[in-house]
Amino acid sequence: MYNTNKITKREFLRLAGVSGVVLSAGLAGIRPGEAFAKQKLLKKPSSNTAFVPDLEIALRADRNKVSILPGKQTSVWTYKGEVLHGGRSTLQAVGDSYLGPVIRVHRGQKVRVHFKNGMGEESIIHWHGLHVSQEADGHPRFAVSSGGSYVYEFEVKNRAGTYWYHPHPHGITGPQVYFGLAGLFLVSDADEQALGLPSGDHDIPLVIQDRSFNNRNQLVYLPGGPMSGMMGFLGERVLVNGKTNFALDVDTGAYRLRILNGSNSRIYKLAWENGMPVTVIGTDGGLLEKPVQRPYVMLAPAERVDLWVDFSAVPVGTDMRLKSLAFDAGMMGGMGNMGGMMGPGGRGMGMMGGRRGGGSFIIPNGDAFTVMKVRVSRQGQGTGGLPSVLSAVPRIPVDEAINIDNPRTFRFFMQRMRWTINGRTFGMTDVAPDEIVNLNTAEVWEFVNLSAGMGMMGMPHPVHVHGLQFQVLERNIDSMWEPMWDTIRDGFIDEGLKDTVLLMPGMRIKVLLKFEDFPGLFLYHCHNLEHEDMGMMRNYLIKA
Ligand code: C2O
Ligand code: CU
Ligand code: CU
Repeated sequence: MYNTNKITKREFLRLAGVSGVVLSAGLAGIRPGEAFAKQKLLKKPSSNTAFVPDLEIALRADRNKVSILPGKQTSVWTYKGEVLHGGRSTLQAVGDSYLGPVIRVHRGQKVRVHFKNGMGEESIIHWHGLHVSQEADGHPRFAVSSGGSYVYEFEVKNRAGTYWYHPHPHGITGPQVYFGLAGLFLVSDADEQALGLPSGDHDIPLVIQDRSFNNRNQLVYLPGGPMSGMMGFLGERVLVNGKTNFALDVDTGAYRLRILNGSNSRIYKLAWENGMPVTVIGTDGGLLEKPVQRPYVMLAPAERVDLWVDFSAVPVGTDMRLKSLAFDAGMMGGMGNMGGMMGPGGRGMGMMGGRRGGGSFIIPNGDAFTVMKVRVSRQGQGTGGLPSVLSAVPRIPVDEAINIDNPRTFRFFMQRMRWTINGRTFGMTDVAPDEIVNLNTAEVWEFVNLSAGMGMMGMPHPVHVHGLQFQVLERNIDSMWEPMWDTIRDGFIDEGLKDTVLLMPGMRIKVLLKFEDFPGLFLYHCHNLEHEDMGMMRNYLIKA
């Protein structure tokens, strides 16, 4: 693992830039580049000879323009990808959107990624959910300035599943993701492939995000200044795969829908409008043991859910809808529109009843809306059915935890107008004594949302831990929050492995984590990106 200084700008251009078609947001191609890349590898001065990648790609963060709304194009940031070495289907563009290419890898592959920052401000890429070394994790201390680059080398140790990548520079992750930087990282493995789940054009990645636009079709982010992000950014339009009014065209077969909530702070309560139950086959850390059916699924920022859906009983010509249903987002005392009030557009108290202000709309967290349309347009193949057993989820026995009766507790609350964890905010390499764990141990951690009883509104916090996948042991809710809980309780899928959990007001969640393979400094934080940028993030140290 090495930093930018070892690859000069010119070397990078030679390595990555000049080798042909760059997979840009505007080009739907997939570039092989295999033979060409091999030659370059031989000449590459800075490569670590001990690490022989199966796959080598370049990702460049750059300014770009894409068409989102009718009329004028929208300025965005995009990751452009290129395969330097490896299979031609490794990178797949997401239509002509701003989203980074979907990266498809196989468990056990060794991956080298050349990140090149062409953005005009510092950045670094984080591989969300991947179990990698601290040097490959994209901690903000490794952020490279504009023009710089960073080389990642890691082996894919994760199970088959839906992971993702996004920027992680301190204080500006929110805007960088908002203006377009994010992509999916899909891992497959032999166990998954043996299941015969829907694949190819029946395996559909869906990234859900909310955005606000001004009347010149440009993205608007926290126009009221950073403090207006106290509740997180909430947009007025829902985008799927970078498009508004997204419609998915399907046949009457079975589909795997891999859904990422790539929003900065919006929470979704996903359900089929026609009342059909939601069939979940996977979450953050891969497939579940067996499929789970729910009336709806809660999806907080950074969480993923793998759905299986069979359209064989749906008549050709039917339009279905995936909705986000109404729920109580935890704002106390009828302050359900606080999110809107504090959000973009500068609406004040006077706007609480209405949604309109400054020429735009806003959708508060907890409001209902359509996420996308699904159009069953043609006859398909038979479904093949859904296996009743999907996977063996590798579980740590809970009695392996060294602190089973004494969980390490992390309280999420506001103090002196700052979002904190245990009263602390982020410092680049800060680690408190109670944030140090030992390699090769398992621990119980307890996340507590202290919104309740503080004479203020409640606030959900999606809690994320870097570097590993954990098990959810239990969720408890304070009795004063029962009415809120009743609107969301059926939507939590805690059966599998997770890296992000939605911690609602008044909630406690106990999780079981094991620190394996990689000592070092890793992050844990709220994945409401505005909270994260304001410092609701800390390091934990895994001591060898
Ligand atoms: Cu998805 Cu620390 O991040
Ligand atoms: Cu992460
Ligand atoms: Cu938060």
